[in-house]
Amino acid sequence: MNKLLGAASALAITMFAAPAFADPAGCDDGEMVIKFSHVVAEKGHPKGEAAKQFGERVNQEMEGTACMEVYPNTTLYDDDKVMEALLLGDVQIAAPSLSKFEAYTLKYRVFDLPFLFASLDTVNAFTQSDTGKSLLTVMEDEGYTGLGYWLSGLKQFSASKPLLLPSDANGLKFRIQTSDVANAMINAIGGSAQKLAFSEVYGALQTGVVDGQENSWCNIYTQKFFEVQDGVTETNHQTLAYLLVTSTEWLEGLDPAVREQFLKIADDVTQAANADVANKEAACRQNILDAGGTIRELTPEQRTEWVSTMKPVWAEFEGDIGKDVIDAAVASGS
Ligand code: LMR
Repeated sequence: MNKLLGAASALAITMFAAPAFADPAGCDDGEMVIKFSHVVAEKGHPKGEAAKQFGERVNQEMEGTACMEVYPNTTLYDDDKVMEALLLGDVQIAAPSLSKFEAYTLKYRVFDLPFLFASLDTVNAFTQSDTGKSLLTVMEDEGYTGLGYWLSGLKQFSASKPLLLPSDANGLKFRIQTSDVANAMINAIGGSAQKLAFSEVYGALQTGVVDGQENSWCNIYTQKFFEVQDGVTETNHQTLAYLLVTSTEWLEGLDPAVREQFLKIADDVTQAANADVANKEAACRQNILDAGGTIRELTPEQRTEWVSTMKPVWAEFEGDIGKDVIDAAVASGS
């Protein structure tokens, strides 16, 4: 290829590649580029806002050494692909939900057990406990290190018809994350479950491929799921939390001083994000109401029905998770 043609095709490749691989941070030559890929909205979402803040802190405080590019909204990878990309070195940081690690560890199933955590405070207490902290490194043989837990909210059900009792879900198809606990839980209420990537949920609800879904207030609001559902039922049946995760090899390969500075920023951002998550969730719940969405609250009797129908699935997963881990989670306050 002559030089002119070569330059033209290089320019074309750059132009066509631009939307997916744009450099949002404007990294300088010589800076180590740290790519952070996630699937949620950039604004108004606990993870989206925390990721943005993480990028800003790295770019201010590590200028000249490192630079973080944050890719929200599945613009780079979905949560399955991002795990491969971490090991390939195509991305350095991700924060998939703890439901999405089944291929690497079954211990995180504890976070999916229905009605285990009654509030974000109890999830926080468990993640700060010795058992919670020990789970950060449980995937090191697989090549992954957890840097911290980012909380997101408790999960609510929505569907194409009112859900007040578990029996209302009979025969409905629900989108779930890649979690066998979620699958068992949906079966327990008489529904069927379909595992779908997050970016496909809105379309699947809109076209009736699935009838319902379960997620945090901020996912239901920022992804507009409530607009294509009859209403949202405030079940608070599970937690949604993320693992801030990196490749062990990448982390260990960093210069010790750089690693220390990077980990300090990660820790600060984690603490600040978790301290504010309940406010963000409350705001998203209110935003759904303000936008005309329907939210149904359960009476104590209705709630008891949901608990007694779903809680038996714990027994199915106790062997995978370990009774000691479940007991530690329960001891954090359920
Ligand atoms: C989902 O797939 O529903 C969530 O994991 C998305 C997210 O990251 O909050």
